[in-house]
Amino acid sequence: MVKLTVLSVLLALGATASAQCGANNPPVQVTGSSGNYRATQNGNQIYSGGDYRLAIQTALDRASSGQRVAVFASGSIGANTILVGSGKILEVCGTLNVGNRSGRGAIESTDTQNAEIRYLTMTGNPYFGLRFFGTRGLRLGELNLNLSGGMGIRFERDKAANSDVKMGIIRVTGAGSHAVETWNINGLEIDQVIARNVGECGLLLQKVTNARVNLVDGDNVAAGNGYATLRFANENGKLNGGYPTNVYINRVKSRGGGRGIFCVSQSGGAQIDNIDLANNGNNAILIENCYNVNIRGGTINGGGEVRLAARTEFANSRDITITAQVNNNSVRESPCADNSNFYISGNARMNVC
Ligand SMILES: *[C@@H]1O[C@H](CO)[C@@H](O)[C@H](O)[C@H]1NC(C)=O
Ligand SMILES: *[C@@H]1O[C@H](CO)[C@@H](O)[C@H](O)[C@H]1NC(C)=O
Ligand SMILES: *[C@@H]1O[C@H](CO)[C@@H](O)[C@H](O)[C@H]1NC(C)=O
Repeated sequence: MVKLTVLSVLLALGATASAQCGANNPPVQVTGSSGNYRATQNGNQIYSGGDYRLAIQTALDRASSGQRVAVFASGSIGANTILVGSGKILEVCGTLNVGNRSGRGAIESTDTQNAEIRYLTMTGNPYFGLRFFGTRGLRLGELNLNLSGGMGIRFERDKAANSDVKMGIIRVTGAGSHAVETWNINGLEIDQVIARNVGECGLLLQKVTNARVNLVDGDNVAAGNGYATLRFANENGKLNGGYPTNVYINRVKSRGGGRGIFCVSQSGGAQIDNIDLANNGNNAILIENCYNVNIRGGTINGGGEVRLAARTEFANSRDITITAQVNNNSVRESPCADNSNFYISGNARMNVC
């Protein structure tokens, strides 16, 4: 058993090491540096000039479906947008600096099928770093958004819905708003969202069904406001008119900032296997008008009170279970929910129904 485990770890590391940004001479490439960019396809020049955005867009537009476009060059696109169409595969191995185009993403994929962004390092203060709607089969790999403001990733609220979305490791630093805000996705898988010094949420799920997330890890997320490292809102997890468990989160870690975990506005159908929350500046956990939420274990140390609540505008909270060791904090249920279950160890002060 142990040998098998070591072997599979080595295999996994090997697989990761061989699949690096721009590896194995991709057919479409953008090279060069400030003032002098060049795009090639199968070795033939398709762009030459000073416009970094146009070099990348030309490369994407010329690439045939399934051809990898590797951007080795670094540069700035200003307050503009790169469009990733159906079947296009983008790997940005350089650093893409972006500006603020009001209401728009620095990179967008909208009404597309099987678009893919495998690697990306982005800097700047975009309105949205990446913006999506109407996607099917969207794949995001390893994305590092090192921002000085704006939002990291946004799936639009008032546009076509998405299905079958997968994300690998999404690291967001310095966003003024959310690291990752989703709306309207059926079928979402995320390996990790790692949010550092982010103004609003780490991961925000809204009207998302059939979701699986391995890890949400926030440090100094949502300081001074009501957002959270992980937030469910606006009927998240509501499926076929009910709340069967369909949102599975393996682990949530949160340090400092505002809230740790926040479920609100008729969301639920969620299971969180493991939590590790400490010193949150607002509620470590707030569950308010949510249905079928099961937190299955982990620890909370300090921070704002763990609270099960309800406002009168929606049906009372129901079918809520929290199992955790809670120290240096309190656990309060008010008003009494329907079918609430607390399995709390540790030194927390308890005030539940
Ligand atoms: C993020 O960007 C800032 C400013 O450009 C830089 O100082 C810092 O090292 C970057 N951090 C990471 C993790 O890339
Ligand atoms: C982007 O510009 C708009 C005004 O067009 C402004 O409201 C917003 O705060 C700016 N965002 C960033 C991240 O600078
Ligand atoms: C939390 O409570 C534990 C157990 O009472 C105690 O040992 C620890 O010092 C406390 N930690 C903080 C940060 O207050």
